[in-house]
Amino acid sequence: MTRSPQAAAEKKQPVYIAKSPTMKRIMGLVQRFADTDVHILITGETGSGKTELAKYIHLLSGRSNQDFFAINCAAIPDQLLEAELFGYKKGAFTGAEKDTDGKFFAAGSGTILLDEIGEIPPHLQAKLLKVVDEHEFYPVGCTKPQVMNARVIAATNTDIQVAVKNRKFRQDLYYRLNTFELHLPPLRERKEDIPPLFELFINRFARENKNRIPRIDPAIPMILQEYRWPGNIRELQNLSELLVIANVDVIKPEHLPERFNTGVSGLISKAATGVYSLEDIKKIYTQYIYNLNKQNKKETAQLLQIDVKTVRRLLQ
Ligand SMILES: Nc1ncnc2c1ncn2[C@@H]1O[C@H](COP(=O)(O)OP(=O)(O)OP(=O)(O)O)[C@@H](O)[C@H]1O
Ligand SMILES: [Mg+2]
Repeated sequence: MTRSPQAAAEKKQPVYIAKSPTMKRIMGLVQRFADTDVHILITGETGSGKTELAKYIHLLSGRSNQDFFAINCAAIPDQLLEAELFGYKKGAFTGAEKDTDGKFFAAGSGTILLDEIGEIPPHLQAKLLKVVDEHEFYPVGCTKPQVMNARVIAATNTDIQVAVKNRKFRQDLYYRLNTFELHLPPLRERKEDIPPLFELFINRFARENKNRIPRIDPAIPMILQEYRWPGNIRELQNLSELLVIANVDVIKPEHLPERFNTGVSGLISKAATGVYSLEDIKKIYTQYIYNLNKQNKKETAQLLQIDVKTVRRLLQ
């Protein structure tokens, strides 16, 4: 199969969008620490890009020609998680029919992401501490230790410090995993990343679906930047897929789902369809800023750079 040069470049060069000042700062740190063995803990809301960042760190490191494994500690039952990570000897438990390597061994000198690390049960926390500290571990039912060469990156979307305080998570393990913490801010706090991410996803899905790449109405980035994105980048990705499937020539405000049709977004989308005059828009926008500023006319006037008299008139 031949690939387009662009697809090949994307495959080799991982795309990790970071246009906002916070993300640029994080990327600066990542460049410095990716190729070291420093333990990194990635925190951030669901969908904020933790797994993607761990993959990116792996690809930037000298370990990139080895495997990257992501294990979701919350999704696997305790007993299975132990077997999955550490491996087991034949007969170690019912169903253990042959010696099986765990991910700590299988990853070789690659990278293992332990996702949702806060959910790892107490007895495995002690074992994990040994792995991280001494690079050694015992497969279930085995008395001979195996060596671990992989780098461990941990991630969580819960406040692990609270779990430490409540003694649900070992403090010593927390400090070992958290030599260096990267906190990914939610998407709503890095609005500059929204338009380039949207464009990336639209282009990617259009290519995958063999659709023509739609143009994007100039009002769209503004509307997307105003939305709160509870599902963060994953939600933006899902929206992009939905819009590509709709297969329109130009993505316009009216193509967005209802939840985007509020506040200034609603205003922009309606203005784009010619429902409002400029005077209407001034009135609605003034009202919006007025409400945002606890109905203070003076502050509203300052923000909008008009006098209080005009504010009063526009609020009528
Ligand atoms: N900076 C980025 N550039 C491009 N794509 C990204 C970026 N960050 C995240 N993505 C994409 O967004 C989606 C969600 O990201 P990811 O799965 O890394 O989030 P997460 O924080 O690990 O979520 P969860 O808490 O559910 O595990 C993924 O499909 C990922 O490929
Ligand atoms: Mg993840």
